[in-house]
Amino acid sequence: MLAQNIKTAILLHEFLTEKNVIWLHLNYDKEFDIEFELVKLIKKRATNYPLEYIIGKASFYGETFLVKEGVLIPRPETEILIDNAIEILNEEVAKNGKVKVLEIGTGTGIISVMLASLIKDIEIVAVDINDIALDLAKQNAIKHGVEDKITFIKSDLYENINNEDIFMTISNPPYIADDYKLPDNVKYEPSNALFGGKVGDELLKRIIDDTYQRKIKYLLCEMGYDQKRPLEEYFKDFSVKSHSFYKDYEDFDRGFALEFKF
Ligand SMILES: C[S@@+](CC[C@H](N)C(=O)[O-])C[C@H]1O[C@@H](n2cnc3c(N)ncnc32)[C@H](O)[C@@H]1O
Repeated sequence: MLAQNIKTAILLHEFLTEKNVIWLHLNYDKEFDIEFELVKLIKKRATNYPLEYIIGKASFYGETFLVKEGVLIPRPETEILIDNAIEILNEEVAKNGKVKVLEIGTGTGIISVMLASLIKDIEIVAVDINDIALDLAKQNAIKHGVEDKITFIKSDLYENINNEDIFMTISNPPYIADDYKLPDNVKYEPSNALFGGKVGDELLKRIIDDTYQRKIKYLLCEMGYDQKRPLEEYFKDFSVKSHSFYKDYEDFDRGFALEFKF
């Protein structure tokens, strides 16, 4: 805990001074005029306000992404969703020379930006209902030099989407039950990025329905650790060629890949 607090104080110091930790060690005997500001930020952090919102950035997939209040902070487990997608998408690119993907609920844009960075011949449409998220995701696409490969659209799921040629839909949608008591630090994050309905899996099920109706071959989603059984049951309502579930870094069920048969 103490080590974590010291690390946080160092990160906040780096944020305020724009100097890295090596500079700090080399100048340990210097007087700083930011003490007041630093104490203010440490106090803010002590209320469980996320560090990422204070410093305006987060690490994900070994890269740095801009974050801000009003948009969900990236979680490491979403890297696994991306890895699973890359495997399928690379096969498609090898076969057809290109691939088109839809991301539902792009948030900071981490999924679309990483796919666009890692796959050469990819075209992505990324949607969200949140204007702050769409604006931030665009900034992240520019930061990572992939803005030409991603079109950002404000859309409630598929509402404003022309699904022509979409090979895969990918999503980390809100999937927490509405009455779930969030830990203190998560309370600062937007509720429409977290809560998926009374049970939690309602939005996931709408995405499954809509993706099938639009005859999109693949659907890859993140989900809650306790949603494998109900979703597996739900898959039986559709013509499915294959499906698989994957676990996160802590060995909890965390997502699925679904291939429809048309
Ligand atoms: C769990 S966050 C995921 C953000 C980002 N993709 C990630 O993995 O960190 C879910 C995102 O879905 C968006 N969202 C919620 N309901 C939506 C809907 N009906 N249509 C489109 N996006 C939606 C939220 O605004 C939020 O940005």
